[in-house]
Amino acid sequence: MPNLLSSLEVKGLVLKNRIVMPPMANNMATEEGEITPRLVEHYLARAKAEVGLLIVEHAYVVPMGRANKNQLGVHDDRVIQGLRELVDAVHAAGARIGSQITHAGGATTSEVLGVIPEAPSPVQHPRGTEAPRELGIKELAALAGAFAAAARRVRAAGFDMVEIHGAHGYLLNQFYSPLTNKRKDDYGGDREKRLRFPLEVAEAVRREVGPDFPVFYRLGADDLMPGGLTAEDARFAAPRLVEAGVDLLDVSGGLGGSRPEGAKPGYFVPLAVAAKSVVQAPVLVTGGIREPEFADQIIRDGKADLVGIGRALLADPEWARKAIAALR
Ligand SMILES: Cc1cc2nc3c(=O)[nH]c(=O)nc-3n(C[C@H](O)[C@H](O)[C@H](O)COP(=O)(O)O)c2cc1C
Repeated sequence: MPNLLSSLEVKGLVLKNRIVMPPMANNMATEEGEITPRLVEHYLARAKAEVGLLIVEHAYVVPMGRANKNQLGVHDDRVIQGLRELVDAVHAAGARIGSQITHAGGATTSEVLGVIPEAPSPVQHPRGTEAPRELGIKELAALAGAFAAAARRVRAAGFDMVEIHGAHGYLLNQFYSPLTNKRKDDYGGDREKRLRFPLEVAEAVRREVGPDFPVFYRLGADDLMPGGLTAEDARFAAPRLVEAGVDLLDVSGGLGGSRPEGAKPGYFVPLAVAAKSVVQAPVLVTGGIREPEFADQIIRDGKADLVGIGRALLADPEWARKAIAALR
């Protein structure tokens, strides 16, 4: 029976343990989205201390998809060389590394972008400050292409996997959520139509990176808001995403953010269990998990295949090394 220290293979990617550093934005890139030595140091410190897989913070696929100034970008071939240096350093430390690609949609501001944000519908986002502009149907194919081009850059930089960000109220979550998608065309309405664009992005990414490169999807499995997505929507989306080419579901949630106040440790574990009940693909779960024994038990109980340790790894870069020693 696997435990936190067991290895795991996902489409040829061999992870030495089940401990994942989930994507966490530092906003320490240059204004042009390029990596900086401070960011390399940040990841390297965790890679040297036995984290199995690091998923680098969200990187925008086009400048219009920026959530913050000094966010990392994967929007231009110019960034590849810098990312390659990060990847090489982490590989030399014995860890695996992936990149999360994203578009903020309406979850940003014209202060960051210089123009009105774009989104599925002109509905002000819980994290926005103004009503965004509705994306035209012809723009959607170009945006799916931008995700694919970003995934190509991720692969070219030597990363071991790419993750499509479909959670935390960003663009793909906005398409799937009935709270932010009020479209009347083929990309809005019932659940199937609202999921259409996320599926097209997953398909475009899969086509671009080829059949052998691991593709993860961070699924906003519950909006945690009245009238928003629920576990039932996650059960609907999960098998369809896998069919579209996704190899692993990274279960998270929250239309307004990933860290519900006062939530119990492991608050998204029931959603991971829901996802696992409908797909064979491995599932990663994150959310308030700090104790090594608890993380280990989640794997032993078969509730998830990988555990994300976020803020605990920010607070202590040595978390994984200490957890491994404690569990041994
Ligand atoms: C400072 C910070 C930045 C974050 N940035 C991202 C991000 O770029 N992409 C993402 O999917 N989640 C992001 N998250 C959410 C984390 O990946 C994680 O899901 C969340 O912190 C809950 O896990 P934890 O309780 O182990 O910290 C961020 C969280 C924090 C604290």
